[in-house]
Parts: sequence; structure tokens; C-alpha cells
Amino acid sequence: MTNLDDDMRTYYDQRAPEYDDWYDRVGRYDDPTTNALWHVEVRRLEVFADAFGDGRLLDIACGTGRWTARFATNPRVTSIVGLDQSDEMLGETRARLAKAGQSADLIRGDAYALPFPDASFDCCFTGFFLSHVPLDTVPTFLAEVRRILRPVGQLLIFDSLLPGGKDAPVEVQVRSLNDGSHHRVLKVYYTSETLAEALASIATPDHMATERTGRFFVVGRCRTPGAAAAG
Ligand SMILES: C[S@@+](CC[C@H](N)C(=O)[O-])C[C@H]1O[C@@H](n2cnc3c(N)ncnc32)[C@H](O)[C@@H]1O
Repeated sequence: MTNLDDDMRTYYDQRAPEYDDWYDRVGRYDDPTTNALWHVEVRRLEVFADAFGDGRLLDIACGTGRWTARFATNPRVTSIVGLDQSDEMLGETRARLAKAGQSADLIRGDAYALPFPDASFDCCFTGFFLSHVPLDTVPTFLAEVRRILRPVGQLLIFDSLLPGGKDAPVEVQVRSLNDGSHHRVLKVYYTSETLAEALASIATPDHMATERTGRFFVVGRCRTPGAAAAG
């Protein structure tokens, strides 16, 4: 059997052209009972995204570039790098940016070994990626994020809120694609509290905020320590 990392890589490569159906709630994601609330909460994420960032921004695991393109409309953001391990996902981002007349550097790379020097970004975003990071690897991943951020750099995280009724936040899910294929994916759901616990490895409580948008999403924001404390 292939390992979970290989399964997830194949899954996102194949999912790339249909990934945005999830945001748009079309096809297999259409649920008339919750679509309206979903769109309200996506709009809340957009408000967080629009208020975020300045200078040089890194979008880790940028996927189809929905948020990358949003950051590109922010005049305070002077340059953007989108990184993903999937060429297919980066192709979707490239097409989205080209359609909107926007630009960003798109790099195929590993979120766990970011190919950038220390302190090379002013701000960093990652959307719906933390929930694929094994719990015991989260501090290592966040330390890598902190490494590439300048002192007092900003981090914004969007992810999936632990659904009501689920007793355990960690699952190996079997997900389907439109072609009928099935793929195993590690998913770790967060709450405001557990996201704050994760962020505590790189930020102090007075420099972080976590909150839920309602039923679907959780948002974390933090500022990394200043140079004296960067250690
Ligand atoms: C759920 S999608 C999120 C896409 C986008 N950030 C968003 O918010 O819509 C997860 C993304 O993580 C990428 N990914 C998974 N493991 C990765 C890794 N180790 N390094 C870089 N990207 C990775 C996948 O290719 C996929 O594009």
C-alpha cells in the first residue's frame, strides 16, 4: 500500500481542475441545506484575507490560488510567492492569475522545507494545509514558517473547523473525485482553542488571535517575536 503522503500528492494532483467546486459548492459539494451559510462564511474569510498582509507575502500550499489572487489585489502587498508541491495546482493558480492580469512567483516545493532564506518574507498565509499536517509535525512546520518570516512577521491561517458531533479531530478520510477514484487523506480538524495551542509554539498569547467563522472554518492570526526574542 502507498503511504499517506503519496496518496495525498496523487489526490491533489488529480483534484486540481475540480478543486474550486468545493469553494463554489457545485457538483458533489452542492448541499442546498448549508450552501447559503457556507457562502456567508467564505465571505468572512475574504474579509480576513483583505485585511491581511504587507510587503512580501508567501502563500504556502497555495492550491488553485484562490487566496493568492486575492492577496494580489492588496496594494500593501508588494510581491507574492505561491508555493505548492503540485504542478497541477500551480497550473490552476497560473491560469487564474493570468486571467485576472495578476502576477506572482509560483514555485513547486515542499512546505516542510521551504526553499527560502531566513527572514525573507514579511507575511505568510496558509489555507487548508495545516489540517493535512500530522499533529506531531505541526511544531516543525510552524518553526519553518517562523524561520522564513522576518521578526514581527505576520501569519494568517484558514482551516476547517472541527464539525459538531465529531469526537476525534484526526481522521484518515477516503475521498472521491469526479472520475470515481478514491484517495486516502489525513485530516486534522481544529477549534479556536487547538489552533491557539498550535500557534503557541511560535507566538505569545498577546500576539495571536484565533476564531471561528461560524460552522465551517477557523482562522488564526499571529505575529512572530521581535529580533531580540527570535533566538
Ligand atoms: C486543501 S488544498 C489548499 C489549497 C489552498 N491553500 C486553499 O486554501 O484553497 C491543500 C494543498 O496543499 C498542497 N500540499 C500538500 N502537501 C504539501 C507539501 N508538503 N508541500 C507543499 N504543498 C503541499 C496540495 O497540493 C494542495 O494544493
